[in-house]
Amino acid sequence: MKIAIGSDHAGFSLKEQLRLTFADQEFVDFGTYSEASCDYPDVALKVAHAVRDHEVDLGVLVCGTGVGMAIAANKVQGIRAAACSETYTAKLTRDHNNANVLCLGSRVVGSGVAEEILRAWLDTPFCGEERHARRLRKIAAIEEQDLG
Ligand code: RB5
Repeated sequence: MKIAIGSDHAGFSLKEQLRLTFADQEFVDFGTYSEASCDYPDVALKVAHAVRDHEVDLGVLVCGTGVGMAIAANKVQGIRAAACSETYTAKLTRDHNNANVLCLGSRVVGSGVAEEILRAWLDTPFCGEERHARRLRKIAAIEEQDLG
């Protein structure tokens, strides 16, 4: 699996840890590369574009809460970014929503929980059921109208 990963300063340490822990995955690191203060939308945009352009399979973004990254990434057409702080939601964002970007909050979850969330998210495929596919088509139609 090829995964775009990025963080702001608040998420830097957790991003580095996830890259080390998930050594079985191929990561493309879009920064940030230190704990110097930076702006999360800049990194969210890079990861979102890599996912949108199919340079990678999925994306992971880490900031303080996960929420700023999710808000920013979801402005990009075709991106379904989900901020998760437990595994149940993480699994369903794949199973039902076919989320293609996972957002984690380093100030919300500890590193152990973050690893469990990412593992659950990566291990769960989209279920493919028509009712869920239909809802995703409706989201895509909203994007066409409002973002296109
Ligand atoms: C940075 O202080 C913080 O605002 C950012 O990491 C994130 O939590 C925003 O949503």
